[in-house]
Amino acid sequence: MRYLTFALAKGRLAQKAMAMLEEIGITCEEMKDEKTRKLIFVNEELKLKFFLSKASDVPTYVEYGAADIGIVGKDTILEEGRNLFEVLDLGFGKCRMCVCGPESARKYLEHNELIRVASKYPNIAKDYFYNKKLQTVEIIKLNGSVELAPIVGLSEVIVDIVETGTTLKENGLQILEEVCPLSARMVVNQVSLKMEQERIQAIISGLKELKKQKEGK
Ligand code: PRP
Repeated sequence: MRYLTFALAKGRLAQKAMAMLEEIGITCEEMKDEKTRKLIFVNEELKLKFFLSKASDVPTYVEYGAADIGIVGKDTILEEGRNLFEVLDLGFGKCRMCVCGPESARKYLEHNELIRVASKYPNIAKDYFYNKKLQTVEIIKLNGSVELAPIVGLSEVIVDIVETGTTLKENGLQILEEVCPLSARMVVNQVSLKMEQERIQAIISGLKELKKQKEGK
C-alpha cells in the first residue's frame, strides 16, 4: 500500500485538524512531540505521512500531488487559486473576510471611488472589487498587521480576516462590507481522489459523520 500524505497549515489549524482526525482513528504519535524539529511524520501502521507547511504553500503541495490531502483555510484556497478539489468544510476556524476601515471611509465604497486597498490577500481583494463590485481600486499587498494601513494613511480600507473583531475595535476600525465566510477546509489532489478513492472517501465520510455528531450536540 502506498502512503497517503497530508499537508497541514502549521499553527492552530493543524492542531485542531489533528485532534479531529484522531477522533476518526487517524493518529500520529510522532507529531505530538512539541520539541521536535522534524518536518515530516509517519504512521507506519496506517501508511500515512503528515507534514506541516506555511498555510499559503499547502495548496501548492496538493496541486502538484506532493500531498494527497491538505487542510487549510478557505482564505488561502481562494487567494492561491490552485487546481484542487475542495471536498469538505471542517467547521472550525470560522471567521469572515471583510472590507474594513474607519467609518469615514464608508462613503468611498458607496460612491465607487478610486481608493487604495491594503491586504495580505490581493487576489481576493481584486476579485471582490473588480468582479463583484465593479469598483476600480488600487490594491497594495502587505504581509501582516494590515490594520495599520488605514491608521497611518497607506490606504483608505483593508481586506482582512475578522474573527472576534477585537483587533478592529482596538484600532478604531469597523467592518464596512463582508466579502465571504471562511473556515478550515479539506482539499484533495485531483489525481489522488481517483487513484486512492476508497481510502480518501473513507476519511471524508468519517469526518462528515463526526461533524454531524458535533453539530447535533
Ligand atoms: C488575523 C487578521 C486580523 C486578526 C483578526 O491576523 O489578519 O489581524 O487576525 O482577529 P480578531 O478579529 O479576532 O481580532 P493574524 O493573527 O493572522 O496576524 P497578521 O495579520 O499580523 O499576520
